[in-house]
Amino acid sequence: MPDIKTIGVIGAGQMGAGIAHVAAASGYKCLLWDAQTPALDKGYKGICTQLKKLVEKQKITAEDEKKTLANLKAASSLKEFASCDLAVEAIIENVDIKLKLFAELDTILPSSAILASNTSSISITRLAAGTKRSSQVIGMHFMNPVPVMKLVELIRGLQTSDDTYAATKACAEKMGKTTVLAGDGPGFIVNRILCPMINEAIYLLQEGVKPEDIDNAMKLGTNQPMGPLTLADFVGLDTLLFILQILHRELGEDKYRPCPLLVKYVEAGWLGKKTGRGFYSY
Ligand code: CAA
Ligand code: NAD
Repeated sequence: MPDIKTIGVIGAGQMGAGIAHVAAASGYKCLLWDAQTPALDKGYKGICTQLKKLVEKQKITAEDEKKTLANLKAASSLKEFASCDLAVEAIIENVDIKLKLFAELDTILPSSAILASNTSSISITRLAAGTKRSSQVIGMHFMNPVPVMKLVELIRGLQTSDDTYAATKACAEKMGKTTVLAGDGPGFIVNRILCPMINEAIYLLQEGVKPEDIDNAMKLGTNQPMGPLTLADFVGLDTLLFILQILHRELGEDKYRPCPLLVKYVEAGWLGKKTGRGFYSY
C-alpha cells in the first residue's frame, strides 16, 4: 500500500472543494481538478475565502492558511494525477460518468494508488469492477459541509482489500474525521435513513403544509440543526433525487418512491442553494 502523501480530488463542487480544503489543511499535498474550468476556479476561490474567514475568526493562524495554500494546487489536467497516492472522486452522482472517469484514472494513477469515491449511493463493487485495480477501490463518503462534519463513511466493495481499507481509514483519521464502516448497499448508512425522511417532508409540502412549518417542526421538535427542506436545498435536489431513485430501484419498495414534487423541481432546474432556488430562494 502507498504511504499516502499526495491526494488528488476530482470535482471541485461543494464536496470536492471541501475535501481538498481538509486534505491540504491536514498536511497532504493536494491536487484539485474539475472538467469545467469555471467550477475549478470557483472551488479554489471558495477554499481561499473559507481559509480567510477562519483566520478572521481566529480558528486558524495566518501561518496555517499559508501552509494549506502551499499544499493545494488547481491541476490543469487529469494527467497531473500521476503523482497521487490516493484519488478521491467527487463528481456528479451519475454511474456512467463515474465509470468513465474511473477508467481514465486507472490508466493515469500509479499502480499502487487507491481510488476512492465520495458517491452518496452508487455501488462501490460496481465502480471497482470497471477498473483493473478493484482491490484498491473504496467508498470514502464525506458529509457536507466537509470542513465541519466529523463523519466519513467507509464502504468496502466486494473486492476491496484489507490494506486499502486500513490505509483509507488512517487517511480519514489524519483529516480529523471519525469513520464508520457501512455495507455496500443503496444509501450506505446515512442516506438510507436521511433521504426517506427528507422525502416525507417533501410529501408534506406537496400536501399543502408550509415549508417554514415543516422545517421549524423538525428543528424545534427534534433538535436538528436545519430543517429537512433547508437541508435538501443544501445537499442539492438533483443529488437527492438520484439517491432516492437508487433506493427505490434497488430496494424495490414503494416507501422509497421519490415525491413527484421533487421530480418537478429538478425538471425545472430548481436544484437548491447552488442554483439560487429550491424549496427556498437564495
Ligand atoms: N464550509 C466550511 N465551514 C462552514 C460551512 C461551509 N460550507 N458552513 C458553515 N460552516 C462553519 C461556520 O464557519 C461555523 O464555524 P464556527 O462555529 O467555527 O464559527 C460553523 O460551521 C457553524 O456555522 P453557522 O454558525 O454559519 O451556521 P449553523 O450553526 O447553522 O451551522 C451547519 C451550519 C454546520 C451547516 C449546520 O446547519 C448543520 O450541521 N446542518 C446539517 C448538515 C448535515 O446534516 N449534513 C449532512 C448532509 S447529508 C450528506 O452530506 C451526505 C450525502 O451524501 C447527501
Ligand atoms: P456539485 O454539483 O456541487 O459538483 C460536482 C462537480 O463535478 C461540478 O463542479 C462538475 O463540473 C464536476 N464534474 C462533473 N462531471 C465531471 C467529470 N467527468 N470530470 C470532472 N469533473 C466533473 O456536486 P456535489 O454536491 O459536490 O457532489 C459530488 C459528489 O459527492 C456526488 O457523488 C454526490 O452524491 C456526493 N455527495 C454529495 C453530498 C452533498 O451534500 N451534496 C454529500 C456527500 C456526498
